[in-house]
Amino acid sequence: MTRILITSALPYINGIKHLGNLAGSMLPADVYARFQRARGRETLYICATDEHGTPAELAAAEAGQDVFTYCEEQHRLQHDVGRAFGLSWDWFGRSSSPQNRVLTQHFAEVLEDNGLIEERTDRMIYSNADRRFLPDRYVEGTCPICGYEKARGDQCDNCGSLLDPVDLKNPYSVISGSRDLEIRETRHLYLLQTRLADRIRAWVDSKADWPLLPRSIAYKHLDEGLIDRGITRDLAWGVPVTRGGAPRPGFEDKVFYVWFDAPIEYIGATEEWSDATGADWRRWWRTDAGADDVRYVEFMGKDNVAFHTVSFPATILGSGEPWKTVDTLKAFNWLNWYGGKFSTSQKRGVFMDKALEILPADVWRWYLTANAPENSDTAFTWEQFASATNRDLADVLGNFVNRILKFCETRFEGVIPAGGEPGPLEEKLFADVSARLADLTEQFEAIEVRKAAQALRALWVLGNEYLTEAAPWTAIKTDRDRAAVVVRTALNLVSLFARVSAPVIPFAAEVIGAAVGEAWPPSWPAADGAAALSRLEPGRPIRVPEVLFRKIDDAQIAEWTLQFGGAEQAGAE
Ligand code: MF3
Ligand code: ZN
Repeated sequence: MTRILITSALPYINGIKHLGNLAGSMLPADVYARFQRARGRETLYICATDEHGTPAELAAAEAGQDVFTYCEEQHRLQHDVGRAFGLSWDWFGRSSSPQNRVLTQHFAEVLEDNGLIEERTDRMIYSNADRRFLPDRYVEGTCPICGYEKARGDQCDNCGSLLDPVDLKNPYSVISGSRDLEIRETRHLYLLQTRLADRIRAWVDSKADWPLLPRSIAYKHLDEGLIDRGITRDLAWGVPVTRGGAPRPGFEDKVFYVWFDAPIEYIGATEEWSDATGADWRRWWRTDAGADDVRYVEFMGKDNVAFHTVSFPATILGSGEPWKTVDTLKAFNWLNWYGGKFSTSQKRGVFMDKALEILPADVWRWYLTANAPENSDTAFTWEQFASATNRDLADVLGNFVNRILKFCETRFEGVIPAGGEPGPLEEKLFADVSARLADLTEQFEAIEVRKAAQALRALWVLGNEYLTEAAPWTAIKTDRDRAAVVVRTALNLVSLFARVSAPVIPFAAEVIGAAVGEAWPPSWPAADGAAALSRLEPGRPIRVPEVLFRKIDDAQIAEWTLQFGGAEQAGAE
């Protein structure tokens, strides 16, 4: 049977991620992984922190830490908050791992052996005060075209011209403000993507079932023409550049570019997992070791697509080695904060750690799944968030579960009742449940995140509709057997809801499942309403849980709007 390999884009190490990052890669990947495991498929979900590059160095400096300690701490924080959100990674690795270093150096060496890497001389800006080369966005100065004084090294925000940092007038270092800069020559390795363009295009052509967004991004880059890409940088923190296992002469103070080693860490992290658990990573990544059975699915934000459809494939295909490549690529748009962007520096928006301080993970998981920025950007507002989660979780799911459990407790001694036979109402319910389960399963399989959430909600709605029509509180006055059928059927719905909701709201689902004695973790039900609703044996005791979902009230909305920065700030951008 097909095995499922899942990766979500590796979050940068520099700080806890906001809900937009979560919604567009890690959360949908987790929901999909949980679904596939419940289906009984062998599933491996891999993620890691993306730890190299200038931003990591600068963030460490700002925190007053050496970069190694900084990354270790931040990795731990991101790991812990991810777990608290229920992210069920099989491994959450680090791109700075020894495994990734060896792999990255290996890829560079085979690419060079295959004639796909070349040393070239660049002219770059060097800051004497900072004692380092400055990457494009760390140089600012006066635009040579329009005279704007704060033009960035790569682009002028005033006139929009694309710039080369060496052309700026009066340039200064963004790091220190120093104007003591000079142009120095420096050697770098270039990956000759121009030579790989045909192979990459043929590979993209072969992926006819990719969604539209990644396909169109890939073809846009291929049609514009690939360029040879510098894959080394003048930095201290990163994967050292080697040749034949020794430091590469002339490259002692250089490392690989962060975007070269980061995607390789998908493999590296699998190796970390393998080393830690005794599993066999090659089964997942090498087609000469069984990985042909693997369906590999990647999750990411749209800004990452070019790297996954062109750059990383260039590394993999150029190696000429039998590596597994991505089968399905699921890309997301942006989750916005009101009309504007989430902003770390301006402390606007909700970050993963703060989110969990105010509400349980499942409330966020439900909202971010049902409102995933799937086919367009989506705007978060507290008002919409509160009304959607109050309705779906408290009024629909929570209310149903609570009503029927309480009724069973007071009228049937808290035991699943025997007696009676299903009637026409139940027959109709069985058919409706079969249809909705089939739809739900199909949407999950297709990774249609919003449609899956809609299908799930539609199932929950059947519960309340059934209870209203079957009215066990009326039936019990005249016909205890009839009431028993309804209660038993509804408790089976509770069990079903626990099982099918688990991928999205795993914490609440487990509590709901435990209320009717459901074994955990659950397996995915077949689309057969009659079977799904006659599983629980009469006589089994039930338990009424604490309130499942508390409603969010207006006072909380007002408080959080103040605390997190709301519409006014975003609008002012
Ligand atoms: N850190 C990058 C980002 O947040 C994503 C890296 S994905 C990987 O945009 F492919 F490089 F791993
Ligand atoms: Zn300009």
